[in-house]
Formats: sequence, C-alpha cells, structure tokens
Amino acid sequence: MTDKYCVIGNPIAHSRSPGIHAAFAAQTGQDIAYERVLAPPDGFAATVRGLIAQGYRGANVTVPFKLEAAALADRLEERARLAGAVNTLRFEGDEIVGDNTDGPGLVADIVRNAGVPLKDKRVLLLGAGGAARGVVLPILQHGPAAIVIANRTRATADELAAHFAGAAAHPEQISSCGFEEIDGAFDVVINATSASLSNAMPPVPASAFCQGTLALDMMYGKAPSPFMEFAASHGATVRDGLGMLVEQAAEAFAIWRGVRPQTATILEQTRQQL
Ligand code: ATR
Repeated sequence: MTDKYCVIGNPIAHSRSPGIHAAFAAQTGQDIAYERVLAPPDGFAATVRGLIAQGYRGANVTVPFKLEAAALADRLEERARLAGAVNTLRFEGDEIVGDNTDGPGLVADIVRNAGVPLKDKRVLLLGAGGAARGVVLPILQHGPAAIVIANRTRATADELAAHFAGAAAHPEQISSCGFEEIDGAFDVVINATSASLSNAMPPVPASAFCQGTLALDMMYGKAPSPFMEFAASHGATVRDGLGMLVEQAAEAFAIWRGVRPQTATILEQTRQQL
C-alpha cells in the first residue's frame, strides 16, 4: 500500500513540495504519494482530521496554518514547541505529532550547501515574525559568536531574543535591535522578513555586508530579490530560499520515512523548474 502525505496551505497551487517529495521517493525507493491540499481559512483542523480518516501518514503545513498546526498537535517535538510553529505533522494512530524542519533546513543549506559553518560567526537575522522565530534555535545550536535579531518593530525583536535567551551559551550570544542600530559587518545575514513578497527590502545598512558575507533571503523566485541585489552590490555572496525549501523537505522526509535523501541534484532540478 502506498503511504499518503500532502502539503496543506491556502493558497497551495504554487507549492513545489509535491515535485520535491516525488524526487526524494524515486531516489530512495520509497513508495509514497504526496499531493497539495487546499484547506479553507477556517477549516484547517477539520481538513487534518479528514486526512487522518483517509489513512494519511503525515503532512507538511504552510502559510497560513503553521501556528494552528502547533495548537492542533497532541504532542510537539522540542524544536517545534520553542518555535511555536509546526511545518511537519506525522499521524501515529490517533496521535498528531508536530515538528518544525524549517530552521534545520535553513541551517543545513547554509552549512552543507553553501559550505559556511556557523560556529563562532556573527549572524544577523532580519525580521522577528514566524519565519525568524523558527530559525533562532537551530542557529544557536551551531555555536555562533553572536546572533543579532533586527526588526522594524523593535519590541518584537526584543521579545524574540528574550524568548531564546535561555538557549544561549552566554548572555551576549543573542541580542536585538532596530534596523537603524545595526552595527558592524556580519558573516551571515538572513532576511527572514516578508518584505521580498512585495518586492521591497528591509532597511539594512550597507555596512552589515563585507567581502565574504553570506546573505540569504528565505524567499525565492526566478529573479534575485531586492535584498539579494543590495547585498551582492556590497560584496556579499547571495543565496535565495530554495535550498532551505529543499532541505526542510528532506528533513520532513527523513522524519516520515527514516531515510535521508541526497538534495544536491534535486535542488538543481527544482531551480530549473522555477
Ligand atoms: P512570517 O511568517 O513570514 O515571518 P510574519 O510573522 O507576519 O510573517 O512576520 C513578517 C516579518 O517581516 C516581521 O518581522 C515584519 O516586521 P514587523 O514586525 O515590524 O511587522 C517584517 N516585515 C514585513 N515587511 C517588511 C518591510 N517592508 N520592511 C521591513 N520588515 C518587514
């Protein structure tokens, strides 16, 4: 019997996840089906219950349901609990288990695909919403010298830094500021704001970048985002969020199937399909 999985969101037609998971399944010889499921804005829980009744084994969750998925889960893995958001569900009997692979996916893309270790590096995280929250713990676990969270609404950045202060090795490892207070150059700059969706960029100063900075936008598209163009024009090596997308999918696939796919060729193929 083919095991069934899906990605639930609204909208969902644009999702690249079915193609990525089909490629993982072919590569690893796993017999799975993976499709897109559109849930009505007020019908996420009912949609999940319906999938369980149909024998689905798990689901990815995307915008706008990641917080609701965390609330719906009977049990949360530690990293999902801290992130307050869930992008991966597995259905074990009647139990719904929630996990979050977005942060580990981003870190895998930086460390393995881009070849930039985070140990002792200075990391600037732009934004303090759901996307930013999911990546703080996986970054801290790699032992950076510092992670600075900058946000348009300063108070939200302060809250996020305070939320993860207990996970830091020492108090100076995590801090927060407004964009105008960003000071000095960083080894890694991550755009976790949603500004690229409206073809805008957060007001990060040029001085945050230098030769050797890795600038990564969590968004992806055919063309580089304004953030990527700005960072590149100030000496940074740039990367979009497609690698993160493929890596978070690989981590979800490994959770469900117990086997980790190779991502390099699948990332290349996915890029060609953009
Ligand atoms: P997501 O789940 O994508 O993180 P979110 O939780 O709504 O979405 O968070 C969006 C983030 O992008 C926030 O940090 C937001 O800043 P505010 O907290 O000040 O609202 C940030 N953001 C969105 N558009 C932005 C822009 N044009 N410039 C700077 N920051 C922006």
